[in-house]
Amino acid sequence: FWAVDNFLNERQHSEHIKEAAMWITKGEVVAFPTETVYGLGANALEETAVKKIFEAKGRPSDNPLIVHIASVKQLDELVTDIPPLAKKLMDHFWPGPLTIILKKKESVATSVTAGLDTVAIRIPDHPVAIELLKQANVPVAAPSANLSGKPSPTSGEHVFHDLKGRIAGILDGGQTGVGLESTVIDCSKGIPILYRPGGVTIEDIEALVGEIKVDPSLKSTDEAPLSPGMKYTHYAPNGTLILVRDRKQIPSLLAEAKAEGKRTGVLTTKDNQGSYTADVIVSCGSRQDLATVANQLYESLRTFDEEKAEIIFSETFPAENIGIAIMNRLEKAAGGKVI
Ligand code: TXA
Ligand code: MG
Repeated sequence: FWAVDNFLNERQHSEHIKEAAMWITKGEVVAFPTETVYGLGANALEETAVKKIFEAKGRPSDNPLIVHIASVKQLDELVTDIPPLAKKLMDHFWPGPLTIILKKKESVATSVTAGLDTVAIRIPDHPVAIELLKQANVPVAAPSANLSGKPSPTSGEHVFHDLKGRIAGILDGGQTGVGLESTVIDCSKGIPILYRPGGVTIEDIEALVGEIKVDPSLKSTDEAPLSPGMKYTHYAPNGTLILVRDRKQIPSLLAEAKAEGKRTGVLTTKDNQGSYTADVIVSCGSRQDLATVANQLYESLRTFDEEKAEIIFSETFPAENIGIAIMNRLEKAAGGKVI
C-alpha cells in the first residue's frame, strides 16, 4: 500500500511510483488512481500478466480490458489504423475520461481484448497514472480495481477492501475526481458508437464530431449490449436497490418496508436528505451540480453494504449530460428495478 497523496514529498512519491512500475515490468498487477476510478494494471503485451488481473477480480474472461497509455506515440504498437474521427476525439479529449476502440495489432495480449479484433485505449488525466505509465514504459491493461460486480473503487481504501492479499500493491492517491468510469466509444466501425456513457458526455462528443450512434441496449432492456462488459450486473449493493422516479413516494415505501421488519436505506442528495426517515440515509452530492453526485455515487453505494441496509430506495436524476452516466450506473446497480 504505497501512499502518493499530498502528505508526502515529491521524492517519496516518485519512489513509490517507481516501485509500482517495477512490479508491472515483472509481470505483476498493481492498483493505481486515475481521474475516473482506480484501475488494476498489468503489462498489456504479456498474456500471463494480464491473466492475473482476471484472477484477482474474479472477472469473466469474455470481458475485455482498457489499455492505458501515457502518450499517443504508443498507439503505433497497439492499433492498425487511426480514422480521422478518432484522431479528432483524441486531440480534444485526451488525456481524459474517453476510451476509444480501434482495430488492434497482434502485439496486444489476447486476453486483453477477450479474443476480439479491436482494442479499447485511453490516456488517463491523472499525474500518478501518467508517471506510472511512463516508468513502466509499456501499455498497461486495466479494468476498474474492484471485485467483479461491486461498485468501482474511488479511493485506495475501496481497493484495499476488495483486493487485499490478491495483488502486488496499491498506489493510494486519495479520492478520484470524476467518480464514474470513462465513456467508451467504438471508432473501428465507421460512425462512432457509444457503448458506455461516462465522464465525457454525449453532448460534448456530438458538439465536436456531430451525431453519433448510441448502443440501443442503453435505451431499451430488450436489446443485447454491443460491448461485452455492458451485459453484466454491476455496482450492486448487497441489499435490494429500487429506483423511484417520483421521490414523493419514497417516505411511504420506506414505512412499508420498515413495517415488514427490514433495515431500510435511502439514497438522496443534500437537497432532500431531511425529507426521509430510514435506518441508513446516504446523501450523495447535490442536484445543483450533478458532477458531485457522480463523484460520490460509488462511495454511497458501498456505505449501504457497510451499514447492512436490506432494502434501499433511490431518487433518480435527469438523463442529460453526466446524468446519463449516473442513471446508467444506478439502473445497473438496481438490476433494472425502477418504479
Ligand atoms: O474509467 C475507466 O474506464 C476505468 C479506469 C481504470 O480507466 N476502467 C474501466 O475498465 O472502467 P472496465 O474494465 O471496468 O470497463 C471496460 C469496459 C467494459 O465494459 C468492456 O466490455 C469494454 O470497456 N470494452 C473493452 N474493450 C472492448 C472492445 N474491444 N470492444 C467492446 N467493448 C470493450
Ligand atoms: Mg469495471
